Amino acid sequence: MSGDNAFVVVANRLPVDRVDGQWVASPGGLVAALAPVLKRNSGCWVGWPGEPDATFSPFTHDGIRLQPVELDADDFEEFYEGFSNSTLWPLYHDLIVTPRYHREWWQRYRAVNEKFARAAADAAAEGATVWVQDYQLQLVPGLLREMRPDVTIGFFLHIPFPNPDLFRQLPWRTQVLRGLEGADLIGFQRRRDEANFLDLAASDPEAHTPRTGTFPISIDASEFDKADDAAITKVRELVSNPRTLMLGVDRLDYTKGILQRLTAIEELLEEGRLESAALIQVATPSRERIDSYKATRAGVEEAVGRINGRYGKLGRPVVHYEHHAVPKSQLRNYYSAADIMLVTPFKDGMNLVAKEYVACHPDGSGALVLSEFAGAAVELNRAHVCNPFDVESVKNSIVSAIEAQDSPAARDAMVQMNAHVREHDVSRWAEAFLSELAAVRRNR
Ligand code: ADP
Ligand code: F6P
Repeated sequence: MSGDNAFVVVANRLPVDRVDGQWVASPGGLVAALAPVLKRNSGCWVGWPGEPDATFSPFTHDGIRLQPVELDADDFEEFYEGFSNSTLWPLYHDLIVTPRYHREWWQRYRAVNEKFARAAADAAAEGATVWVQDYQLQLVPGLLREMRPDVTIGFFLHIPFPNPDLFRQLPWRTQVLRGLEGADLIGFQRRRDEANFLDLAASDPEAHTPRTGTFPISIDASEFDKADDAAITKVRELVSNPRTLMLGVDRLDYTKGILQRLTAIEELLEEGRLESAALIQVATPSRERIDSYKATRAGVEEAVGRINGRYGKLGRPVVHYEHHAVPKSQLRNYYSAADIMLVTPFKDGMNLVAKEYVACHPDGSGALVLSEFAGAAVELNRAHVCNPFDVESVKNSIVSAIEAQDSPAARDAMVQMNAHVREHDVSRWAEAFLSELAAVRRNR
């Protein structure tokens, strides 16, 4: 069976969330970048609506056709929490926690990937282009290739691709590789990720390596600009007008190094190297039933309490902690008000938060402390780079960012990074991938 969509996006999640019975656009640049392509090409987005055991018919939201894929409670546990986020996520992020290998999870991953592939095959018109997203769906290209040899298939990996020696731990490594090879083009965030994949494929005598490329993802820069002075003043007043306002914005995930940045701040306070400073730490709840996420949250919240107990005063905590999602307009105010942004992941495919912060400082204000292990460090190469595994390095980067504040060099660095992000936004990313995919298609 074939559908009538000339362009199909397949992602684990639909670009909408159900809030009080209504569909609302979920925040994220991907849909902003792809919406014009979807609308132009009578396109469709295949994905999971985010609720287990809920059946929804296909519908249109904001001019985009959405094709829900139903996941039941067992799929949620074994495919989403299990294989995707307790096996692949830690393996692809270089074993920050130990990946868990379970045969039932693998079987469920395969079955759910089949469901997505079937839905994509049904939605795609003859000769359509199908773009599959991310590590949750690595078998879809191979499965879809068998179901629909006529379609052109792109795959983009939003997270890092590990060194082959790590990847080879995976008991189902061959099947995953075969799944990816169904794509006509595989896109990665960094050259390093692409090189890891090519090294792996080169060592497999059976591999049919598809075309690969490096396409660093970005943000919808039109959504982020400096907030007005009144909004900035309000944020700073809410946190009692510290001399230095620091900010962290992350999903509460062990890859993000939130505890390590808190430890760095606590040690700087102990050593008297940080005066009149406050941190706003926004942490979005994420994958909350998984033990390693529970442990990360406990560690972060204990540190927040301890630091405030040791160094805060009544009405003047050092760390202002929010464990919930924040509207984009409010995030923009936080980004604009912050003197120093702390982005300290142990490993991150890209880290869009770093780019969002930079986009909010066109005037050269602010400073970015950035882990060398974030994909964003390749482009945002004038940040204060740190190694999150080395607390002294994080401390020194924070201090150097504070000391350099308002210097011509610091302003120049922010202005230059801002121009880079504005020019290389998410639409440009989508165009680059899709035009390369179109070139591969012409040569097929
Ligand atoms: P990841 O994809 O691993 O979560 P990124 O930094 O690449 O990390 O992207 C996170 C996205 O989620 C950014 O667009 C950021 O603005 C958004 N985000 C993170 N925390 C929050 C929050 N508390 N409220 C709203 N949006 C958030
Ligand atoms: O960037 C990696 C990623 O898993 C995306 O696929 C996803 O949109 C985001 O992080 C949030 O994760 P989740 O969908 O598990 O809440």
